[in-house]
Amino acid sequence: DCQNWDKLVQANTRMLFLDTPSNPGVEIIDLEWAGKFAAAHNLILVVDNCFATPYLQQPAKWGAHIVTHSATKYIDGQGRVLGGLILGKKELIKEVQFFTRHTGPSISPFNAWVLSKSMETLAVRMDRHCGNALKIATYFEGNPEIEAVRYPFLKSHPQHDLALKQMKAGGGIITLTLKGGLARAQRFIDQLQMISITPNLGDSRSIITHPASTTHSKLSPEERAQVGISDGLVRLSVGLEHYEDILKDVERAIEKSK
Ligand SMILES: Cc1ncc(COP(=O)(O)O)c(C=O)c1O
Repeated sequence: DCQNWDKLVQANTRMLFLDTPSNPGVEIIDLEWAGKFAAAHNLILVVDNCFATPYLQQPAKWGAHIVTHSATKYIDGQGRVLGGLILGKKELIKEVQFFTRHTGPSISPFNAWVLSKSMETLAVRMDRHCGNALKIATYFEGNPEIEAVRYPFLKSHPQHDLALKQMKAGGGIITLTLKGGLARAQRFIDQLQMISITPNLGDSRSIITHPASTTHSKLSPEERAQVGISDGLVRLSVGLEHYEDILKDVERAIEKSK
């Protein structure tokens, strides 16, 4: 809902911070709109591009001043190192650099080397993540045990056209809302055999996460409801395995958790 944003900008508002696709709801925010909005209100536009990666989406093209990545995710791609990237114009980055120098979040040379090697395979990996994710999302859409399947490149996604406009492909994250709430989601997760249970994402191996009880457990139930995180929602980070192996594991767990 971009209609009421003008009213939210106060005299002391300096920055607009957003992630698209969002975590975990994979909602899409219009980057062209955000770029124009930030320019009109003299705001620094910061885009967390973690889910999309620079291969699928370049927010700077739409006017983002700073783009951030949790490199721990797709940039590494194998769950080996922690790291982050802050990209932007020199004047802004100078301030960030000053802050990081004096507060400590500096990457180790070894982690930096691992990440620089990972970058060489980013495009190839993302093609596979996205191809697998689209096949899996398409397969489970309409499954009677699932209330909703959300994936940016599914036609049923509310911002599908926007996703097509600003992303090269839909990314590797799908959300599934299982019928039966928390108890069903827990049974489903417990029944998975191949897919790992962890709050990470963007690994070569498929990962399942239950946001309501882990990554987003700090939000109140009302706040979670506002951003569409129900107790039955699980986040699937689709890995690089053969898509049929992932599909079979999910399908089996859906059946066994009935
Ligand atoms: C979209 C997004 N941004 C940022 C982060 C934070 O990552 P880190 O813990 O590496 O700082 C995460 C972690 O899950 C994420 O999913």
